[in-house]
Formats: sequence, structure tokens, C-alpha cells
Amino acid sequence: MKAVRVHQYGGLEALKLEDLPIPAPGEGEALVKIEASGVNFIDIYHRLGRYQGSLPLTLGQEAAGTVEAVGPNVKDVKPGDRVAYASVQGAYAEYAIAPAWRLIPIPSGVDTKQAAAAMIQGMTAHYLAFSTYPLTAGETALVHAAGGGTGQLLVQIAKRCGARVIGTVSTEEKAKLASQAGADEVILYTQTDFEAEVKRLTNNVGVDVVYDSVGKDTFDKSLNCLRRRGTMVLYGASSGPVPPLDPQTLNAKGSIYLTRPFLGHYTADRAELLGRVNDVFNWIAAGELKVRIDKTFPLADAAEAHRYLEGRQSKGKILLLP
Ligand SMILES: NC(=O)c1ccc[n+]([C@@H]2O[C@H](COP(=O)([O-])OP(=O)(O)OC[C@H]3O[C@@H](n4cnc5c(N)ncnc54)[C@H](OP(=O)(O)O)[C@@H]3O)[C@@H](O)[C@H]2O)c1
Repeated sequence: MKAVRVHQYGGLEALKLEDLPIPAPGEGEALVKIEASGVNFIDIYHRLGRYQGSLPLTLGQEAAGTVEAVGPNVKDVKPGDRVAYASVQGAYAEYAIAPAWRLIPIPSGVDTKQAAAAMIQGMTAHYLAFSTYPLTAGETALVHAAGGGTGQLLVQIAKRCGARVIGTVSTEEKAKLASQAGADEVILYTQTDFEAEVKRLTNNVGVDVVYDSVGKDTFDKSLNCLRRRGTMVLYGASSGPVPPLDPQTLNAKGSIYLTRPFLGHYTADRAELLGRVNDVFNWIAAGELKVRIDKTFPLADAAEAHRYLEGRQSKGKILLLP
């Protein structure tokens, strides 16, 4: 089978398309024939070595396809099932092994590529809006990168919760996508000071929550956009990591809260995982949640997919097709 591996951390040249034997599932595992793999920022961090593990490493954390074989003591899936999964290393490949408990059967109203596209970004948007800061009707959320993959889904889910959503984006094209997703106001933060604009839009009160995936470039001003005792949810670092923070800052800004959540901690067991994915899949099947697949690349062109995501081009999900 073909797989994209990293032997040495580095730039795009670190991605190597290789021939490997098809692996066999062990106890509690399944072999999945992959139809589509998701490309995520975390894959770039793994390629660069920002998150270090053992090498060589097959990249990719998310895929969908068909169960080809199962190992002993697998009850959750069987050969022939259409399944999707996230948070399992090794998805940039034609086949992958996954713990069976992490495999989610795909309902008939959701096609396989949509399922691959919805796993990480969909579940992330779900836990941010329902668990990290449970949004309620009438509250106001600021969503950065609202025209990106997670951003468009988070805007839709926040609207579903009844919140007012202010989105930020870098281009007119992304502004249109954020508006189509349901954002009430969209700020072009490359042209307008988003802190001043948020204050104006909230009569100087500030927002209840900021969902910030951009990190370094937006963090400080995001804190200033919060109302008294508001919540700062820093969930990514697309522009770079945020430097260390003095806890006294939280007091000075109005007894605000800061959290840095991670999907794995919000999908810790099968019940929680199924609860989130089934919501996402049911909304997709009902036409209530739109997953925008922005671009697909052949598996062999994984480097081009990384260039696209790093280059701030993404306007939805990026998939690799084996
Ligand atoms: N904590 C978690 O559990 C979790 C789970 C999933 C994803 N994430 C994080 O969420 C973030 C978004 O992921 P995604 O897959 O949905 O990507 P995405 O939002 O589709 O793409 C990243 C967006 O970030 C914005 N951005 C601002 N400055 C940037 C820069 N210097 N370089 C690149 N992009 C920049 C861009 O939007 P504009 O052009 O509009 O600024 C870009 O479209 C990533 O940081 C990812 O690691 C975290």
C-alpha cells in the first residue's frame, strides 16, 4: 500500500510517499480501506516536529472508508461497514489500523468523503460550543477564522445554540463564506481593528466568549474583547503559539477565564465520541449542517495540501484521496 511518511522532521520535503505492507489488525483493532483522509494543522505540527513522537511516522489523524478486516474481540464494527474516525495516527495511507472503539458507522444520508471531512472539525466545533463554553440563546460569541474549516462549522453550531456570532476573516471571499454559515457580523481583521469593532458592536460590553484558533496574532486583542468574567477559548495556533501569560492578566481584564482545550479530552470514551459524531452526522443528513469540502488532493500530493493549508488558503475541509 502507499503511505505518506516522515523520517526526519522538516519542511514539505519531509513528506515521502512510500510502499508498505498492508498491516494486520490485532486484538480490538480493525483494518480500514481508506477512501478519504483529512488534512489538519496538527499534521503540519507533526511534520515539523513541534509535537514529537517516534520516527518514521505515517501522518494523518482522520479518515473514512470501509472496514476490510477485524482482529479478535471486536464488537463495534464488522467487515464491509462504512466507517469514519479521528485521533488515530496514520491516515495518510491506502489502509490503516484503528482501535475498533474509535470507528463510527456512517449513516446512509452522509457520504464517505463528507464523513471524513466532518470528524475533527465537526467534533471540535461541537465540543467548543456545547462543552467548553456551553453557548446559550442571546449570548454573543466572537469566532476567529470564521471562513476556515472549523470556523464555518462553529458559526453554524453557535447559531444553532441561539447565539449572536461575530466572525473574523482575512478576505472578502472568506467573509462571504462566514456570512453564508450564519455569522451576524463579519470583520475583515486584516483591514479593520477587530478589538475596536467588537467593542462598537457590543456597546463596549464585550462578548461572552472568544473562540480563537489563530493564536499569536489575535490572542492579546481577543482578551480585550471579552465582557467581565467572559471566557477565552484558545484552541489553535494557526499564526503561531501564544507566549506564556501572567495569571494576574486574567484579573486585570475583568476576572476572565482562559482555557486551552483539546479534542482528545472531549472524546475520551466511546459514549462521548458517539454522542458528538452522531449529532454532527444527523445534522448533515438532515441538511442542517453544511460541511464545505474546499479542495481534494491525490495522496501523492500531500505536500501540496500542506502548502495550501499553511499558506492560509483553506476555505473549508482539505482531503487527500488515495
Ligand atoms: N484544540 C483542538 O481540539 C483543535 C481541533 C481542531 C483544530 N484545531 C486548530 O484549529 C485551527 C484551525 O484548524 P482548521 O483545520 O479548521 O484550519 P482553518 O481554520 O481552515 O485554517 C486556518 C485559518 O487560520 C487563519 N490564519 C490566521 N493567520 C494564519 C496564518 N499565519 N497562517 C495560516 N492560517 C492563518 C486563516 O483564516 P483567515 O485567512 O480568515 O485569517 C486560515 O484559513 C488550527 O490551529 C488547528 O490546530 C484545534
